[in-house]
Amino acid sequence: MFARYKKTGSTTPVKAHAVPPLPDKTLVADEAPRPSAAARMVKTVQPKVSARVEMSDKERLRRRKLDQVKSELHKRLLENLNLAALETASEADLRAEISSITAEALGELNVVLNTEERATLNQDLYFEVMGLGPLEPLLKDDSVNDILINGPHRIFVERAGKLTLSDVTFRDEKHLMRIIDKIVSAVGRRVDESTPYVDARLSDGSRFNAMVPPIAVDGSLVSIRKFKKEKLNVSDLVRYGAFSEEMAMYLEAAVATRLNVIVSGGTGSGKTTTLNALSSFIDNSERILTIEDTAELQLQQEHVGRMESRPPNVEGKGAVTQRDCLRNALRMRPDRIIVGETRGEEVIDMLQAMNTGHDGSMTTIHANSARDAVSRLENMIAMSGIEMPLKAMRAQIGSAVNLIVQANRLQDGSRRMTSITEVTGMEGEVITLQEVFRFERTGIEPDGTILGHFTGTGLRSHYADRFKRWGYDLPASIYNEVRE
Ligand SMILES: Nc1ncnc2c1ncn2[C@@H]1O[C@H](COP(=O)(O)OP(=O)(O)O)[C@@H](O)[C@H]1O
Ligand SMILES: [Mg+2]
Repeated sequence: MFARYKKTGSTTPVKAHAVPPLPDKTLVADEAPRPSAAARMVKTVQPKVSARVEMSDKERLRRRKLDQVKSELHKRLLENLNLAALETASEADLRAEISSITAEALGELNVVLNTEERATLNQDLYFEVMGLGPLEPLLKDDSVNDILINGPHRIFVERAGKLTLSDVTFRDEKHLMRIIDKIVSAVGRRVDESTPYVDARLSDGSRFNAMVPPIAVDGSLVSIRKFKKEKLNVSDLVRYGAFSEEMAMYLEAAVATRLNVIVSGGTGSGKTTTLNALSSFIDNSERILTIEDTAELQLQQEHVGRMESRPPNVEGKGAVTQRDCLRNALRMRPDRIIVGETRGEEVIDMLQAMNTGHDGSMTTIHANSARDAVSRLENMIAMSGIEMPLKAMRAQIGSAVNLIVQANRLQDGSRRMTSITEVTGMEGEVITLQEVFRFERTGIEPDGTILGHFTGTGLRSHYADRFKRWGYDLPASIYNEVRE
């Protein structure tokens, strides 16, 4: 049965391999360890970060030994497994095949491992051959939101808004590069000195970006935003303290009555999550088209058409931009258009769509406040090469955008909607804004937890009459209430 996955033809079978010289004496299990030399060696590659769990010399030595055996065995596996047959093999068969090849090789290498070490080795090798090596356990860990790699020995993870250094490492830069290559070549892209950075998507939907040396100075930089299958809904967000019940009521009215909404915030502040949750207030009868660079949104409505832009291929051809999608979307009779994130030239079509009957359109934008979001929009228009006087530009923005919802990741890792601001029009050349809800900070606990509450600003919504006309008669008190 194993033969199915072994390469046939010219490749030499495992047994015929000459036993290669061991790269390091410490590999041999029964030889006395040399902790001082090994510790010195390890020290040069270990990052000097206090958060790292201190390992004993013995543990370091054991890890290093396993690493070296792993590297040798991985090479052998690649030589001896029929990679084409792997595609169709069952996981159980593969694992059995890997452990048979490893057992054979360990015998030849004269390395003795205990049961646990052997199980770890087989597991790691399985991940190397079939998956993304050291990244697999992090990708499988649902509590991890982001994986951030700064060179082969420093892998940070984000859990519940907090970044920590993990104890996962790559062997060296070559190892890291091999995994990067595996990811990008699977989507027909390439990363090397001439194209040193790349965007890709993992098969589970996670977003991946890598930048390699020499642009990345201390080894490849990788960021992975994990794909969350379970999106947070409005009641989850209220429960987690992202916004108050009053704000939820207000947002329901805003979305249902088709205000054009921009969710503004920094990276990882919860923009996409918020947009996704807000979309639940859209009526089932509406035709919604979504446009994203990476399809993340999961709208629950019946009538949703999803588009995903495409970067150029290796020859620099075949790109389909968000702007291309948006322009075509306008010919597809949408009731609403949702653009995952407006970053560039598509801004002009987005504003036009908002101004020409596709009320209730929504997007996110990278900005730090409502006012900043407005200037970002202006900048994007200016950058798109469209000649437009500032006043006209602002008039366009002022009439297109009705509401700016500010998402924020606070220092304690919590994600909160720190402001809901209405765009009320123009005064002279200035776009006028009116904040209706905000998060007010009151202090900070010794453990860093930020204290505060949501509050209405006391100003009645500019859209109150519209809400009422549409049957959302919000009590005036919601604009005053303070929520602890
Ligand atoms: N209010 C919240 N509470 C807890 N986790 C949240 C909250 N909002 C977002 N998240 C999580 O934070 C991560 C980043 O959110 P995302 O919406 O993708 O951010 P952005 O689009 O701003 O980059 C996701 O894993 C998401 O599930
Ligand atoms: Mg996002």
